[in-house]
Amino acid sequence: MEKLIVANWKMNPGTQQEVIELFDAVSRGITRNLTQNNAEVVICPPFIYLPLLKGLTLGAQNVSVEPKGAFTSQVSATQLKDLGVEYVIVGHSESRKYLHETDEEISKKLKTALAAGLKPILCVGENEGEDRTEVLATQLAEGLQGLLGVIIAYEPVWAIGTDKNCDTQSVVEAAKVIKKIAGDVGVIYGGSVNAENAKQYLEVVDGLLVGGASLKPEEFINIVRSVD
Ligand code: 13P
Repeated sequence: MEKLIVANWKMNPGTQQEVIELFDAVSRGITRNLTQNNAEVVICPPFIYLPLLKGLTLGAQNVSVEPKGAFTSQVSATQLKDLGVEYVIVGHSESRKYLHETDEEISKKLKTALAAGLKPILCVGENEGEDRTEVLATQLAEGLQGLLGVIIAYEPVWAIGTDKNCDTQSVVEAAKVIKKIAGDVGVIYGGSVNAENAKQYLEVVDGLLVGGASLKPEEFINIVRSVD
């Protein structure tokens, strides 16, 4: 099966010129690489840069529950689809934390995204000290009622941006819990992924959600190269 490698640029880089340079460097590496390798690469830049970037598959970092109307600051699923965006990250721990998103709201976002023809990537994962199985069960029970076509990203919050990437065995266990609850879904891993540790995860899950390392073109291209 094709592996899914998703770059979440978060609120980076800082200028339009840097965005274009980063995208061009990644595109050149990926285009050369794709002939030998079985990866779907998705770039998720900040919303404002989506219309500038052409040639690689794009994803958004969030989406509104609402279809249109008086919802200042929000972007709808149909607007994203109309721009040619294919994927959308939903329920990232940073959106849960800073935008106070609830599982109920996240579930609505999944439905809205699917109805518009976007492929949602639902992020789930425990904070430091929380019980993984319990957290996954809660996040998935609320979020996934009867939905098909959602990709699940297991992103333990304590592993994000910390260089404390999760051990492979725990990722295998998390993927089992996810599939038990959500059925035969694609599961990807995120949390301090880099070019050195990417391969170990690609042997046990369907892809990667990469933050910091996706801002370094060579490192990101090497992550994509670790797909056989
Ligand atoms: P890092 O790869 O920087 O740990 O970020 C992971 C992440 O949050 C991707 O969505």
